[in-house]
Amino acid sequence: MPRRVLLWALLVAPLAIQLYRYVTESIYYGEILHWTGVHATNLLLLTLAITPLFRIFPRQKVFVWLRRYRRDLGLVTFSYSAVHAVVYLVRLADGPRILEEAIEPGMLTGWLAMAVFLVLALTSNDLSVRALGRTWGRLHKSVYVAAILTMAHWVLTAFDPTVGYVYLGILVVLLLPRLVPRRKAA
Ligand code: HEM
Repeated sequence: MPRRVLLWALLVAPLAIQLYRYVTESIYYGEILHWTGVHATNLLLLTLAITPLFRIFPRQKVFVWLRRYRRDLGLVTFSYSAVHAVVYLVRLADGPRILEEAIEPGMLTGWLAMAVFLVLALTSNDLSVRALGRTWGRLHKSVYVAAILTMAHWVLTAFDPTVGYVYLGILVVLLLPRLVPRRKAA
């Protein structure tokens, strides 16, 4: 339990600091939006990389450890993307304009990714795991759909999408083992 608290503190502290800097006007809107967006995506890729890395290096303690906290990492990812979205909503504070922008492909992909992350965050608890049984695993596979939507959101909204394409490439590499059927144990 204290390890879980420490993990959360370490991962959420930078977000709290950046939010404080934004509120106190040390950084501007574009900077916080970029920072939260990129770090939410970094955390997302890290979360998705844990299982493939564990399969390749099953004896490496770091991957065994990370695997145990995969759900927490997913929830931290959601926290970063939620702050990213709230910063945008508070800055615009204009319902009709938010709706008008939400139907553009770049923003629509962001909203759809966020909707999937919300469902996953709400069901990332022991009660839901027990209640949903095998459906839980299938539901949580939709994280890959949310990840593709996130990369689309990035490349469609960024002024220079080059880095977004690099992240998309990393996601494709992470998805490849999922497309290959796993051998059944003898
Ligand atoms: C509620 C949904 C979302 C909203 C309203 C939103 C809003 C925005 C806005 C306004 C931008 C800046 C576009 C520009 O520079 O003109 C942006 C960029 C970005 N967003 Fe989102 N976003 C959402 C969901 C997400 C999610 C779920 C993620 C990641 C998990 C994410 C990651 C990013 C990234 C990486 C960028 C590009 C940053 C950059 O290159 O500066 N967004 N988003």
